[in-house]
Amino acid sequence: MIVLHDAEAIRAGIQAVARRIRERFEGTELTVLAILRGGIVFAADLIRALELPVRLDTIGVSSYRGDTTDPGAIQISSSPSLDVKSKAVLIVDDILDTGRTLSRIRADVAARGASQIATAVLLDKPARRAVPIEADFVVFTVPDVWVVGYGLDHDEKYRNLPYIAALPAPSG
Ligand code: XMP
Repeated sequence: MIVLHDAEAIRAGIQAVARRIRERFEGTELTVLAILRGGIVFAADLIRALELPVRLDTIGVSSYRGDTTDPGAIQISSSPSLDVKSKAVLIVDDILDTGRTLSRIRADVAARGASQIATAVLLDKPARRAVPIEADFVVFTVPDVWVVGYGLDHDEKYRNLPYIAALPAPSG
């Protein structure tokens, strides 16, 4: 495993992004919507750095990447509990990869009547983008490798690593 960003770099990166979010939403209550499950580790650290009035909620997704009728379709498997109508919402995820998850959730939050929507991701992997979406706030951009740690998993392992690492490509 190759460490891409250690715990100290992540802490500093989140502080810097939190400062930009605070400037954008000064004086506004922000509903932070963390995407389950990987987004919760980043969201937990981000909200404590925001210094804004924050409400916290989660949204669950499942994808059916192997489905031949609709490859990459994203379903919402658990809806947020809080009403976001006329609220400023910050959607938070671990990684923006093809863009399918974030664009699906952004559309869902818009349909729920949010007054403002912004997106924040810990990692951006632009090489694999399939849907035209960019996040408003990005902590790190990563190359096209499988990354784990800090919420990101491989077969549900490694989510608790305090750093972000690249898994070596399977040999053979
Ligand atoms: P999309 O493709 O919808 O992907 O932008 C977002 C979701 O896919 C997962 N994902 C990863 N998980 N290492 C991971 O552990 C990765 O390199 C990776 N790339 C995508 C992740 O669940 C994310 O929310």
